[in-house]
Formats: sequence, structure tokens, C-alpha cells
Amino acid sequence: MQLISKKTKNLTKQQKLSICKLKNTYWHWTLKNQYQWFKENVRAADINNILKVKNKIVGYTLLRKRKAYHKKKILRYLYFDTTIIKKSLRNKGYGEVLMHYNNKIINRQRIHSFLTCPKKLTSFYSKYEWKILSKNKFKILDHNPIWFKKAVRLNGMVFKLDKKFKSKINYYLN
Ligand SMILES: CC(C)(COP(=O)(O)OP(=O)(O)OC[C@H]1O[C@@H](n2cnc3c(N)ncnc32)[C@H](O)[C@@H]1OP(=O)(O)O)[C@@H](O)C(=O)NCCC(=O)NCCS
Repeated sequence: MQLISKKTKNLTKQQKLSICKLKNTYWHWTLKNQYQWFKENVRAADINNILKVKNKIVGYTLLRKRKAYHKKKILRYLYFDTTIIKKSLRNKGYGEVLMHYNNKIINRQRIHSFLTCPKKLTSFYSKYEWKILSKNKFKILDHNPIWFKKAVRLNGMVFKLDKKFKSKINYYLN
């Protein structure tokens, strides 16, 4: 097993393709669309955490360096986007290994991280020091209207958010 963390600009085309293939097994699209999305949305400095088993990419998390606002002041944060373990390897502890690694990488950046997930996944992230952010404590400013309809059911969670941020945080995901 191997864990690696790479900025997007340092990924090979083959690694990007493997990541898109893995994502496509859960978020069904077409590989072409996955790749296109990756090219358009994942920035050069974004962080790609990769779990390899037998030299194959079987786990992946994307940490996107993005901006939020708290009381009109800019707040840089890591948008925790996508976490996945290959289906045949789930429930064997690899998700836990990847989460501990993700947290280590976030700690190094010295900024907090934010994610959204369906309610049923909150218990997974809670195991790894992630905390639920009440719905009145955050707002996402740039989601598209289709996504927004579903977003009301999304839960926000944070890792290493300083307690001094007591009022609402306005997040940009893109
Ligand atoms: C969520 C996911 C990454 C977990 O990976 P995994 O390798 O199966 O997790 P692990 O085997 O390391 O399990 C670690 C712990 O989390 C729990 N867990 C695993 N999947 C869970 C889930 N979907 N919901 C809640 N808890 C979960 C396990 O029971 C285990 O708990 P324990 O330590 O108390 O026994 C994996 O199921 C996955 O890739 N799912 C599809 C993609 C997805 O839903 N991503 C999240 C989008 S918000």
C-alpha cells in the first residue's frame, strides 16, 4: 500500500485518467465527461491524495484550495471534494487509512477544510474528527440551480475550524 499527495500540476496524464476512471465507477458519467470536468475544475495547485494497492490507484481524495468569507473577511480553506475507495476494496479499512492521511495533509496546510455530504455519510467523517456545521453556520454561494435543489439536504462538515469563527461562513466551492 502506498499513499501519495500531489498537486494537480505534478500528476501524469495516466494518473489523471486512472482517477477519472475510479470516480466514474461511483459518480456515473462518461469517462470523457469526467476528464473534461477534471481539466476544467481542478486547479494546478489543488491537492490530489492517492491510495495505491499493488501499484494501482484504488483510493482518492481531492482537496481544492478555495475561498470563503467570514464577516466580509476572506478565509482560505480546503474544499474536501470527492473521496472514494474502489468498490471491491471497501469495508476493509482503506477508507480509514485514506482519511487519516487526508487529515495529515490538511493539517500541514494550516487552514480548515469543509465538505458537504448526505446525512448517512456524516457518521463516517465524524470518526475522523470532522464536525457537523449547523445549517445556519454556512452558506454555499456558487452552486448551480439544479444542484441547489438537492443541496438543501446536504450536510456541511468541517475539520480544524477555529472556534473563533462563530458566525456564518460563506463558501465558494469553485
Ligand atoms: C465512504 C467510503 C470512502 C468508505 O471507505 P471504506 O474503505 O469502505 O471504509 P473503511 O472500511 O475504512 O471503514 C472505516 C469506518 O467507516 C465506516 N463506514 C464505512 N463506510 C461507511 C458509510 N458509507 N457510512 C458510514 N460509515 C461508514 C465503517 O463501518 C468503519 O467503521 P468502524 O471503524 O467503526 O468499523 C467508501 O464506502 C466509498 O468509496 N463510498 C463511495 C463513495 C462515497 O460515498 N464517497 C463519499 C461521498 S460524500
